Amino acid sequence: MCGIVGYVGKRDCTDVLMNGLSKLEYRGYDSAGIAVFQNGKIEVAKAKGRLKNLEEHMKAEGRPTGQIGIGHTRWATHGEPSDVNSHPHSGGRVTIVHNGIIENYKELKDYLISRGVSFDSDTDTEVVARLLDYRYNGSPIQTISETIRDLEGSYALGIIFADHPEQVYAVRCESPLIAGVGDGENFIASDVPAILEYTRDYYLLEHEEIAVLGRDGVHIFDAYGQPVEKELKTADWDVEAIRKNGYVHFMLKEIHEQPTAIRTTISPRIQNGLPNLEECGITLEVLRGFRQIHVVACGTAMHAGTVGKYVIEKLARVPVTVDIASEFRYCDPLVGTGDLVIVISQSGETADSLAAMRLAKSLGAKTLAIVNAMGSSIAREADMLIYTHAGPEIAVASTKAYMVQIAVMYLFAFELALAVGQIDETECRRLVTLLEQTPDSIAEILERKEQVQYIASSLITADSLLYIGRGLDYALSMEGSLKLKEISYIHSESYAAGELKHGTISLITENMPVIAVATQTALREKTISNIKEVKARGARVILVCRASDTIDPEAVDLRYDLPDFDDLLMPMIAVVPLQLIAYYTSVLKGNDVDKPRNLAKSVTVE
Ligand code: M6R
Repeated sequence: MCGIVGYVGKRDCTDVLMNGLSKLEYRGYDSAGIAVFQNGKIEVAKAKGRLKNLEEHMKAEGRPTGQIGIGHTRWATHGEPSDVNSHPHSGGRVTIVHNGIIENYKELKDYLISRGVSFDSDTDTEVVARLLDYRYNGSPIQTISETIRDLEGSYALGIIFADHPEQVYAVRCESPLIAGVGDGENFIASDVPAILEYTRDYYLLEHEEIAVLGRDGVHIFDAYGQPVEKELKTADWDVEAIRKNGYVHFMLKEIHEQPTAIRTTISPRIQNGLPNLEECGITLEVLRGFRQIHVVACGTAMHAGTVGKYVIEKLARVPVTVDIASEFRYCDPLVGTGDLVIVISQSGETADSLAAMRLAKSLGAKTLAIVNAMGSSIAREADMLIYTHAGPEIAVASTKAYMVQIAVMYLFAFELALAVGQIDETECRRLVTLLEQTPDSIAEILERKEQVQYIASSLITADSLLYIGRGLDYALSMEGSLKLKEISYIHSESYAAGELKHGTISLITENMPVIAVATQTALREKTISNIKEVKARGARVILVCRASDTIDPEAVDLRYDLPDFDDLLMPMIAVVPLQLIAYYTSVLKGNDVDKPRNLAKSVTVE
C-alpha cells in the first residue's frame, strides 16, 4: 500500500511526480503529497483525498517548481487520512515519503520525545523522518545505514536532505521499490508503471539496499554503505497497458483484456498439445513427488486457488487444502516435506502471502508461486515460479489477474493428473484444447452486455444479497460476491447452495436478491431445488446458467444465458458476467469503480 516516486533530472519535477503518482494511485488514495527542491529549498504540497485534491490545492496555494523531488500517495495505516498525516513528512533537515509500517515506531517516538524532539502528526513515518534528522551527521548514506538498523517492520523510503539538493535517496525493506535509469534523469518508484513513460530500465532494490540518485546516474549501496553492482532490468510492459485506451474505467478495460491475457499466459506453456511447465521448474517427476498440495493466498487470488482445488482433486485425485494466508501463517499448519505449497498473488508483494510462503519453506515444503508482477518478492523467493502474463492490473478489483490465475491452475491440474496417471495423453490434449477455446467464448460474452446491465440495474437498491452455487459454481460465486461488495458497497455473501437451509435461509426476504450459478450439469437439479426454496420465501432470483438449459420460468426472475462449454472449464466463462454485474452495479451507483473506498491494490501490510 502507498505509492512513492522520486525524480532527479531536467524536467519539471512536479509534472513527473504527479504523473507518476497518477499511475500509483491504485496503491492508496487517502491523501497525496510532494516535496520539491525549489531554488535549493524544500517546498512541500500535500492534501487529503485523491490526487486531484492535491492538484486543486497547488492551483490555490502555489505549485512547487524544480527538478528534484519526491512524491507519495497514501493508504492510511497510522493516523487518519488528513492533511497533517499526509506524506511527505519532514523532520527538520530530512523530508521523506514512506510505504510500509514501522512496527516499533512507538518506542522510537518515545525515545525521541525523551530527547526533546516534537512531532506534528500521528504517523509512524514522521518518526523515521525525525530519527533520520536526529542522527544526521552530514553523510546521508551513513545516516540512512545507521537508522535502518533501528527500524522494525516494512518500508520503502524516498528521502531528501535539505543540504543535498542535487540528490534523492531511497532504501527498502520488504516494501517494493525500483530505481529507474534514464538519460540524464533518474527515478524511484513503488512500481514500474510510474516510470514507464520515461524509461524502461530499472534496478530492483533488494532488502536494505540504499540508492542514491543524481542526474549522472544511480549508485547503489548495501546496508553498511558498501557499493553494490546490480543487473539493470528492462520492463517489457507497453505504455498502452497503463492507459485506459478509450475505456471509461481500468476495470472495464481489464475485463476486456481477458481473452488476450489467457492466450499470452497459456500459449508458451503448451507444447504438442500438452502442458509443459518445465521452464517454471515443474516436470512430471517433480509433480509425482507431492503427497499433498496447499494453496495459500488472499482475496481474489484465494478464490482462484479454490477453483484450482476442485479441478486438481477431480482430475488428479491429489488432496488440496486452500487457506487464507493471514490464517495459515498463524495456525501452526500441518505442512512439511513432501508437500507443495502454491502461493497465488497478482502483486507478488502481499505481506500475508509472502509470510505464509516463507513459513511453508521453513517447514520443509516446496513452494510454487503463481504471480503476475515480475521480480516481486513472492516471485523471487519461491522454489518454482509460474508467471501469469496479464500485464499491469490497475483497477483495485482484480479481474484479468484472477482469470489467468485460474488458467494456470487448470494447466497445472492437467499436467499433474497426467503425471500421476489419472488421465492419459489423449484426455490431457482434449482438456488443453478446451482451455485454448475459452478466450473465444469469453469474447462472445463481452460482445453482449445488455443482459448484465439490466441485471445490475435491478440490484442497485438492494442492501444485501446472496450468491449461491454448488461445487465449482460455489467456488466461482465466492469471487462474484467479493467483486460486487468490493466496488458496489452492497453487502453480499456466497453460500454453498445446499448449506442455506442450515441457518442462512432465515435472512431471505423479498429485499434479498439471490444470484444463483448453475453451470455444473451433475449438480444443476440440486441447485434448482435450492433456488425454489429461496423463491418460495420471497427472494428475487437471478440465475446464471447455459442458454441451452431448460429451467422452470417460475423458479427465476432473471436469467443470464451463458454459451455452452465444458463443465470443468465453465468458471472461466461464467466469471465474466459476474465481473460485469459488479462493474455495472458500481457504475450505476456512481461509485469510483477503479478506486473503491478503504482499499488499495497491493496489500503490503499485515
Ligand atoms: O496481489 P494479490 O493477488 O496477492 O492480492 C490479493 C488480494 O488483496 C486481492 O486479490 C484483493 O482481494 C482484490 N482487491 C480483489 O479484487
